[in-house]
Amino acid sequence: MSKLFRPLVTAAFATLFAAPLAHAAAPDWASVPGHEVELFYPGQSSFEWALTPDDMSGATDFRKGKDCAVCHIGEEKDMGPQIVTGTVRTFKTGPKPSIEPTPIAGKPGAFPATVKVANDGTNLYVHLEFNEGAQPNSNQDPDYDTKVTVMFDNGKDPAANRAGCWAACHDDETGMPSANGATRTMYLARTRAKLTRQGGGDELAPADTLATLKASGDQLEYWQALLNPGQPAKPATEIVFDKRAAAPTNIVTADATFAGGVWSVTISRPLNAGAPFTNLAVGVPYHIAFAIHAGHTAHRFHYVSYERDLTLTASGATLTDPK
Ligand code: HEC
Repeated sequence: MSKLFRPLVTAAFATLFAAPLAHAAAPDWASVPGHEVELFYPGQSSFEWALTPDDMSGATDFRKGKDCAVCHIGEEKDMGPQIVTGTVRTFKTGPKPSIEPTPIAGKPGAFPATVKVANDGTNLYVHLEFNEGAQPNSNQDPDYDTKVTVMFDNGKDPAANRAGCWAACHDDETGMPSANGATRTMYLARTRAKLTRQGGGDELAPADTLATLKASGDQLEYWQALLNPGQPAKPATEIVFDKRAAAPTNIVTADATFAGGVWSVTISRPLNAGAPFTNLAVGVPYHIAFAIHAGHTAHRFHYVSYERDLTLTASGATLTDPK
């Protein structure tokens, strides 16, 4: 190597090592207040099911403007344990048919997570601590024991703003009542030509409608930590629009420990990740909701939460229950 060339190479290497791929130090969680979020087993309660008064008594009030979270936060502990058994439910308005045709024997119905959020000017951090209880191994996903997903709603999808994850959970998706064996991942209602009690099917809205929705930023981000005890967490980023699909790049990091039955999981994401992701800004009302697959489950056999309001502040972030 010529003397002239060497300094250049050395400089290039110095830059490389000086700036390793940012895996920022997580905040000191002990100093961040926790927010209780109950995760419960939802069975086959699709968006369309919840919008049908004969199926879900709150449907009429939802259509009039009352959000799911406002009615149901605080009731999840009563919902999950009866839905998960696959037997007749008696919740508030008397007996209702089962919404779980293939129950997993012995599966817990609900568990709480303590959620903390932080922002250090570069990244948003979401931290969850939870004990998923004694989980039977369903063998649905042999690769991962547990999967933690944060659904991020930037405020651009009216249904997601009001119904959280249910806005993406339709009656004709994989394993749902109207799927008839079809494979269909999560989608937003506005991407479909029409929506019936059976869901939106495969007919998409006109191309110009889809383009307008896309340009407006209407989508959900899906940030995931794939977990096995004793192994490094694996991060994944997906986007939900007309389907759920891997994002062009993974923008999240995931860290997790498992001790004494408790998972401690941190998912982080740069505030500015570039298109097609939302650039996160202070003071803008966002929503997040959580899904946890436990006991090697896949698809709909997860625990979910109602949505929470997320707001970034100059030096941190707040998580509150919708009012
Ligand atoms: C006005 C209050 C209200 C709103 C808003 C509301 N619900 Fe309900 N929900 C109820 C009542 C009352 C019941 C119990 C009777 C029933 O199952 O119909 C119920 C039952 C349920 C159940 C079954 C619980 C169980 O233990 O069996 C689920 C799941 C559910 N709602 C989801 C939703 C979703 C998702 C939304 C938003 C799209 C929503 N609800 C909006 C009042 C509400």
